[in-house]
Amino acid sequence: MRMSRVMPGAPELSWDVERIRKDFPILHQVVHGKPLVYLDNAATTQKPQPVLDALRAYYTADNANVHRGVHLLSERATEAYEAARTRVRRFLNVADPREIVFVRGATEGINLVARTYGRQAVGPGDEILITGLEHHSNIVPWQMLCDDQGAALRVVPINDSGEVDLEAYDRLLSDRTRLVAVAHVSNALGTIVPIGRMIEAAHRRGIPVLVDGAQAVAHMSVDVQALDCDFYVFSGHKVFGPTGIGALYGKSELLERMPPFHGGGDMIKSVSFEKTVYNDLPYKFEAGTPDIAGAIGLGVALEYLEALGRDRVEAYERELLAYGTERLSSCPGVRLIGTAREKAGVLSFVVDGVHAHDVGTILDREGIAVRAGHHCAMPVMARFGVAATTRASLAFYNTREELDALVDGLEKVREIFG
Ligand SMILES: Cc1ncc(COP(=O)(O)O)c(C=O)c1O
Repeated sequence: MRMSRVMPGAPELSWDVERIRKDFPILHQVVHGKPLVYLDNAATTQKPQPVLDALRAYYTADNANVHRGVHLLSERATEAYEAARTRVRRFLNVADPREIVFVRGATEGINLVARTYGRQAVGPGDEILITGLEHHSNIVPWQMLCDDQGAALRVVPINDSGEVDLEAYDRLLSDRTRLVAVAHVSNALGTIVPIGRMIEAAHRRGIPVLVDGAQAVAHMSVDVQALDCDFYVFSGHKVFGPTGIGALYGKSELLERMPPFHGGGDMIKSVSFEKTVYNDLPYKFEAGTPDIAGAIGLGVALEYLEALGRDRVEAYERELLAYGTERLSSCPGVRLIGTAREKAGVLSFVVDGVHAHDVGTILDREGIAVRAGHHCAMPVMARFGVAATTRASLAFYNTREELDALVDGLEKVREIFG
């Protein structure tokens, strides 16, 4: 049994992590002869038993298409699907359920906004403003839009700690800016971006803001009304729900004006060969049969997280991150990439003289799952002058002992590479 080193001054936590871990069957397995240590939560999170049960129950008892059947199963499926929307609405503190659009994930949500709002609002000479810490999902759709519309992508630089340069941001906001698109939390660095301050500055110039919340929602409470952001996107699989489902929040006055994204069933009120009348929100943006089971599973995942207490999750993870930061900082040859004052969930690092893939492979043999690579954030790697990092990313079910195992694994890396 490994002993965990409690940081001096660290509060004693009333977080019963062992009990919580029992809800996640996947965590209790042996890989390469070692107990699994799952530290790849920024890539995807594990699913608690209630989510697994809900998926099974849906397919076992209720499976039917939504919004169309008159039969009981279809009514039950529709009710459960719409109840999931209500759950997402509450999770983000959205006032109006018409403002929640189910999408496949953060990537699809951003592409939806780029292809609809973007095509409508962005023209030649206009600018889209992003930051230097974005995931490719919040870069490429805007590049594609800019190419199509003759617009330009502007990038707010980040400093050596991985924080957004807010003075540069204020300077880059201009009369040509049509949208600011920014991550709430960086997947490669863990930086919590001061989006409240950035939204205020953009709004003073009448510029709408899209927030990519993919890495935020699992770690902190999000209140889109308090933030006053115009769009907020996230993926279900990064918040303990299934893959293939996510949500886009958009202010209704914007969503109303935007053209549909995909055409097909469910997004129409009437169709003739001469004219199609589009459906009301949010269905105008939900063409075709949606991921019904996914939405139901997501609803249950959000319910699970809320029952744990999002403030308590945040407090526990803050302590865990501080512990991991302290332990990794004292590992010889290990350099943390991303040392912002405000961080959530991510420990990205390089090991002197060892490629991140080799680090990841050796850790895997120790049963430790981390990600090694550019984390779909190649510009962040370029900014820090590294080809790749190793990333350990946390969830509320991780423990100090697991971070100790990571440090022991890095000791092995040093032994092997001398
Ligand atoms: C910050 C950020 N944005 C967007 C995405 C894309 O999420 P998805 O692949 O679930 O659409 C990710 C995924 O890692 C991410 O970390």
